[in-house]
Amino acid sequence: MKPRPGGARAAKPARPPTLSILVLSGPNLQLLGTREPEIYGRETLADVHARLEARGAELGARVTARQSNHEGELCDWIGGARGERDAMLLNAAAYTHTSLALFDAIKAVALPCVEVHISNPEAREAFRQSSRIAPACVAKVSGFGVESYVLALEGIVRWLRARASLKTGKR
Ligand code: DQA
Repeated sequence: MKPRPGGARAAKPARPPTLSILVLSGPNLQLLGTREPEIYGRETLADVHARLEARGAELGARVTARQSNHEGELCDWIGGARGERDAMLLNAAAYTHTSLALFDAIKAVALPCVEVHISNPEAREAFRQSSRIAPACVAKVSGFGVESYVLALEGIVRWLRARASLKTGKR
């Protein structure tokens, strides 16, 4: 690629959105940026959502990102995704370790879901080392800071496109 004047990198052209991805974050993640920054970093959830929307636009995926402190509301959003979205990214936060309701909700909609964590729960306290939702998910990305969300988005877009090309036989 030819370098642009001033050394600025060309923004990747947006692809028309062909995929729709729901990104959900659970309790206390509205506090990102100030919550235990040594674990969760300094970026706010609004920063993360903006990055996901921008990366989604480059990849041809419309991203809708929401946060709730309430298990039932997260279940409502997952339930509403059936037939509306192609996949979900879910950082269920503390509900990861406790919520049968979220496990059931993911199973019920039968949409591919990626479990996301900013930290690496397996390397933390014992109570974080089991996930109730993992068996309902196709993949997990954790430990990369807020980059985990972006990596999960890139991964699920590739996963969805690979699945589609397997079905059509087209590459
Ligand atoms: C978290 C890890 C969980 O154990 C914790 O309860 C959170 C955040 C993460 O993103 O690293 O709230 O999901």
